[in-house]
Amino acid sequence: MAFPIQRLRRLRSSVSIRRLVQETRLSTDQLIYPLFVQDGVEGKSEIASMPGQYRRSLPELLKETTEAFYLGIPAVILFGIPKNKDEYGSEGFDPDGIVQQAVRAIKKETPELLVMTDVCIDEYTSHGHCGVVKDGKILNDETLSLLVKMALTHVQAGADVVAPSDMMDGRVEAIRKGLDDNGYEDVPILSYAVKYASCFYAPFRDAACSSPEFGDRKTYQMDPANRREAIREAMLDIEEGADMLMVKPALPYLDILREIKDSFDLPVAAYQVSGEYAMIKAAAEKGWIDERKAIFESLLSMKRAGADIILTYFAKEMAQMLTEGK
Ligand code: PBG
Repeated sequence: MAFPIQRLRRLRSSVSIRRLVQETRLSTDQLIYPLFVQDGVEGKSEIASMPGQYRRSLPELLKETTEAFYLGIPAVILFGIPKNKDEYGSEGFDPDGIVQQAVRAIKKETPELLVMTDVCIDEYTSHGHCGVVKDGKILNDETLSLLVKMALTHVQAGADVVAPSDMMDGRVEAIRKGLDDNGYEDVPILSYAVKYASCFYAPFRDAACSSPEFGDRKTYQMDPANRREAIREAMLDIEEGADMLMVKPALPYLDILREIKDSFDLPVAAYQVSGEYAMIKAAAEKGWIDERKAIFESLLSMKRAGADIILTYFAKEMAQMLTEGK
C-alpha cells in the first residue's frame, strides 16, 4: 500500500506525536567527559583550537569533575600533561604522576563518579609517539610493558576503567594480564579498538603538545580506507579481554560504528574527537551553524549508528540540554 493511503507526514504533525514515535534518544547516562590535567601549573589555560576546553591544574580539574558529577554525567576520562617528557614517557607510569594524583583526588571528592584513564605514552614522550622509538621505528613489544605499568599505576590510584589508546598489537592482553596478576581482575578495559590515523586529532595534539616529532602514526593507527580491518581489530581485542570497544573518530566513521555494533555484543563507545569539537565550535562562532543543534544532531547520529556510550567534550552542554528537555 502506498500513497495516498500511506502518508508518513501524519506522524510528524506535532511536537507531541514526534516525541511518541522518536526512535533514538540521547541520555546523560551515556556520556563520558574527556579532561586534560596538567602538572606543575596553576589555574587553567584555554586550548586555542578547542575554545571552552582547558588544560587544568589539579584543583581546577576537581572543580570541573565535581560540576560534571552534579550534572549527572557518570564518567570522565583523564589525559595527563606532564612536567617533563622523555624518551619512555616515564611520568606516565610514575605512581605520583599527574593522572595518578588526579584519580586519587577525584575518587576522594566524588567516589561515585567513574574515573577512566587514557593509557598511552604519547602525551609523556619527548618524540610524541605512542610507542618506544628505536632507529626511527616505533617498537611494538617493547611498548607493552610500559603500558602495563601505566595502567597498573592508574588502577592502584583508584581508576575504575582503563582505556588503552596506543594501538600496539597485544596491548589489551598484556594489560589484562598485568591487572589480573595484581588482583585487579574486576577492573574493565575500554579498548580504543578501532582507532584511525585521523587528521581530526590535531587540536588534541595541540592541547597535549603530543604531535609526533617525526613521521606520523600510520604504522600503528588504522588506515581510514579500511572497514574489514576494523572488524579484525575489534575481534582480536575481544579475544584479548576487552570489555568495551571504542570507535574513533565518530562522525566520519558512523558506518564502522554500525558495523561493530552489529557484529559484536560488547558495549560500543564512539569518541567525538577534538577536531569534531573544533569544527562545530568554529562554525558556530562564525554564526554559520547553531551550536546547540549541531551538538545534539551529531551526538544523536552516533547513538543512531549504534553507540551505547559517547565520549564528548560537549558532555556538560549536552547534559544541560537534556536536563532542560530541549
Ligand atoms: C592518544 C590519544 C589521542 C587522542 C586520544 N588519545 C591522540 C592521538 O592519537 O594522536 C585524541 C583525542 C581527540 O582528538 O580528541 N593518547
